[in-house]
Amino acid sequence: MSSSDIDSILIEDRQFEPPAAFAAAARVDEKALAALHRAAQKDHTGFWAALAQTELDWETPFTQTLDDSHPPHYRWFHDGRLNVSWNCLDRHLTMDGDKTAILFEGEKGDTRRLTYAELHRETCRFANVLKQLGVVKGDRVIIYMPMVPEAVIAMQACARIGAIHSVVFGGFSANALKDRIEDAGAKVVVTADGGHRAGKIIALKAAADSAIEHSAVKPEHVVVLKRTGEAIPMHAGRDLWWHDAVAGVSDDCEPVWVEAEHPLYILYTSGSTGKPKGIQHSSAGYLLGTVTTMKWVFDLRPDDIFWCTADVGWVTGHSYVAYGPLAAGGTVVMYEGAPTVPDAGRFWAICQRHGVTVFYTAPTAIRALMKFGDEIPARYDLSRLRLLGTVGEPINPEAWMWYHRVIGKERCPIVDTWWQTETGVHMIAPIPGAVATKPGSCTIPLPGIDADIVDEHGNPVTQSDKGGYLVIKKPWPSMLRTVWGDDQRYLDTYWSKFDNRYYVAGDSARRDEDGYYWIMGRIDDVLNVSGHRLGTMEVESALVAHHRVAEAAVVGRPDAIKGEGIFAYVVLKGERPTLGSEQKLTEELRAWVAEQIGAIAKPDEIRYSDNLPKTRSGKIMRRLLRTIARGEEITQDTSTLENEGILGQLRGKE
Ligand code: WTA
Repeated sequence: MSSSDIDSILIEDRQFEPPAAFAAAARVDEKALAALHRAAQKDHTGFWAALAQTELDWETPFTQTLDDSHPPHYRWFHDGRLNVSWNCLDRHLTMDGDKTAILFEGEKGDTRRLTYAELHRETCRFANVLKQLGVVKGDRVIIYMPMVPEAVIAMQACARIGAIHSVVFGGFSANALKDRIEDAGAKVVVTADGGHRAGKIIALKAAADSAIEHSAVKPEHVVVLKRTGEAIPMHAGRDLWWHDAVAGVSDDCEPVWVEAEHPLYILYTSGSTGKPKGIQHSSAGYLLGTVTTMKWVFDLRPDDIFWCTADVGWVTGHSYVAYGPLAAGGTVVMYEGAPTVPDAGRFWAICQRHGVTVFYTAPTAIRALMKFGDEIPARYDLSRLRLLGTVGEPINPEAWMWYHRVIGKERCPIVDTWWQTETGVHMIAPIPGAVATKPGSCTIPLPGIDADIVDEHGNPVTQSDKGGYLVIKKPWPSMLRTVWGDDQRYLDTYWSKFDNRYYVAGDSARRDEDGYYWIMGRIDDVLNVSGHRLGTMEVESALVAHHRVAEAAVVGRPDAIKGEGIFAYVVLKGERPTLGSEQKLTEELRAWVAEQIGAIAKPDEIRYSDNLPKTRSGKIMRRLLRTIARGEEITQDTSTLENEGILGQLRGKE
């Protein structure tokens, strides 16, 4: 056993009860949680129906909670009608329109505060602009923006008129944007002249222009927010400035009431093929999930200042920046830039400046900031923090303990939240005033979420600590509805494995003797790089699109900061590069992948060989490639390898 194995066993024994003061004031304490679980077990649909009635405002109440007549397609509250933006904005105006909705901070230090009344007005105005541009219910709008309030305004404006948005992360390349414009069939693109990130300007408009130029689908209009003031070309007739467009429009925009199942958005995520899939979410069920988890898991109270550091380009930024905090009537912080500008104290400075009480980020950020030592956070007043959260990947106990000790001062519970783009909201997570935590475990499923771990045949794994497939056995309101334009892929990816009985998450997990879940990792060819999903096939297709590459195989390897790093094996057309030319080619290929997908997909290392290790039936031996990428000794049987002589090259030894 290696020392790290021993470490993890020692650490796994630690358990942290909810702090008494926290539990005493929490929305949900142990007793309340037990009652919620009981209610959900007794009547799964009745449980959700009651929440949908109390937590959402309906224009037309629903009469049927769940339509499960066509599994695995489920409809929730389908004969009810509501509007998501009404639920996020209008309904809070009567309570307190002066309440702060968004606290924004730009990378350069500029700040802005938007009250609910202001956010409502800006949303209505932008919704009117979209209407003027001919956008109607069901049309798709691509949002390719920096992390500024207008990104949320654009999302809310779409929701207000029943348009379906698809937010594309600003770090994705023109080529990735083009694929999404085409797949979604976008009518309008909303972007900016640029955004500030890590001291640089991200040229969003230039990427949007190039994407549209190469796209088979031509959006009719591009609305451009002025953020950086950089000079950019505007295409007459197609492009218009945000500030010009909103100048003359009305502050009022009657919401378009939509059916509960009307798609709120499409968000593309990586899977095991080269093509990202458009995860389609509903309006009512999705929104219900965001509100309930804001209250249960984040224990959100009226005076909380909630900061989720995710970009709106990811699902976390959808559920816990753009929708959840607003639907729950909270105050949400948005930060435009990188965590290390001007230095590694930026997150803590923001927490101090805005009085953040609930802070939610990714393990990769925690690990990166932990590296700079305890002195940096010690310079800031973090006393208002009361709850911390993590998402995106398993958190290693060492980072958990640092977060607990140095940021939370051993006072704040940590909620490790397991969920996915597909699940919409938290699924397995501690309710902080009720569930004891263990570093590295996302603890137990939330009320109304019927999770389990099953074996290859779909039978529950009852033995503790034995791994299996993580599945969800009953539909839940915020679940994905389909893959946009490709329902077959929805069925194949998530349901076919166990004959449509269970939703298959694509993760493996184990349960300890207390019934706590420990996520072990993906079972498909999806990497988790800095908490972001990336298909190995996507990177491979990008590599082979380069004129010099014949074949490529991409695997993950553990990375101390990013969780997983990208290791690519490349076979060139023609000769392997000489030692002298190798580095230049590697830089060229890395830049090429960034251009095809985005900077997050750049391989950390590229190794060239004359061939890839294949079995006689022609299958690439990925496990072997993973072993080599980790620099571990090869223990697996290589006798089925067609060309054993290749091993030296793959190990970089020849
Ligand atoms: C992983 C992000 C362990 C998991 C919300 C999942 C996690 C994928 C956790 C979804 C966690 C997310 N512990 N692993 N707390 N949260 N994951 O779609 O592999 O970007 O399937 O959604 O991230 O990534 P996605």
